[in-house]
Amino acid sequence: MEETEKIVEEAQQEIATAHSSRALYEAKMKYLGRTGKVTALLKGMREIAAELRPAFGKKVNDLRTRLETLFASMEEKIKARELEEKLSGEQIDVTMPGRKHARGALHPITRTRQELIEIFAGMGFEIFEGPEIESDYYNFTALNTPADHPARAMQDTFYITEEFLLRTQTSAGQIRLMEKKKPPIKMLSPGRVFRADDDATHSPMFHQMEGLVVDRHVTLCDLQGMLDEFARTMFAETSKTRLRPSYFPFTEPSVEVDVSCAACGGKGCSLCKGTGWIEVLGAGMVNRRVLENCGLDPDEYTGFAFGMGIERIAMLKYGIGHIRSFTENDVRFLKQFQD
Ligand code: DAH
Repeated sequence: MEETEKIVEEAQQEIATAHSSRALYEAKMKYLGRTGKVTALLKGMREIAAELRPAFGKKVNDLRTRLETLFASMEEKIKARELEEKLSGEQIDVTMPGRKHARGALHPITRTRQELIEIFAGMGFEIFEGPEIESDYYNFTALNTPADHPARAMQDTFYITEEFLLRTQTSAGQIRLMEKKKPPIKMLSPGRVFRADDDATHSPMFHQMEGLVVDRHVTLCDLQGMLDEFARTMFAETSKTRLRPSYFPFTEPSVEVDVSCAACGGKGCSLCKGTGWIEVLGAGMVNRRVLENCGLDPDEYTGFAFGMGIERIAMLKYGIGHIRSFTENDVRFLKQFQD
């Protein structure tokens, strides 16, 4: 009985000196917890004479209630104080300038590809995308480039097996489309191509844009008219094109297409190496053999095709000196293409 009074005094002191809710909780456990002092008193009931038990039990219960009330009221005070401290420590200065989020930009290759698609879609071309892992047949043989053809040496091919390779040109899409669709055809085929080649203007992976038009009475004149329109929209209102004879197995005749240098207007500068012209793409009239390989009658249908490197077009249009700039991911470079 005496001890209960002592316990109350002791607890009151501990409550008064507890300065955090953690310390208060520890103190509370010391008295009211499972192994606490008050609990111990209750457990000691058995050792007390039976007639004294009711009085003792009441005393201890009162003690427990008193302590609970004391702890609860202190707990409330400490919690309020702690909340106050937390809030004043977390004050927000609403007048501080906000954090800016950097705005991204389309990659120059994506942007150039979109521009090209827009130009040709405006002329009625449809997009067709072929596979990147291609068979030797679609990449070469059907394009009139059989196994022993010297033109295969023009492209250093990554072979996967004897039959499959990483496509070296989007021209493979011409065959896939002509096998499926009868003329009139106006196809645009963008995509990644791969060649074992690496220097300032060549990279082992790059992008091409292929074009194919097949119908009755399609002529080289149609090709040039369309290319003129393309050059004017892509480069400058005053741009002109020029065709030079060339060779590709899948076109006959074949041409190399130059665009007048937009940097100097054709007078000659370092970009065009003093010639006034810049080579931008290969093209030609679809070879009769290629039409035949796709089951089309070359006496009924004719067509033209063209293929260009998207990196090359972007380099010319934006004055980019090194092809590696496209893959280095230097934000200072990429930032310049923000609208
Ligand atoms: N496929 C050729 C290359 O990668 C480019 C090309 C030339 C595509 C002439 C054509 C074309 O469609 O008619 O070098």
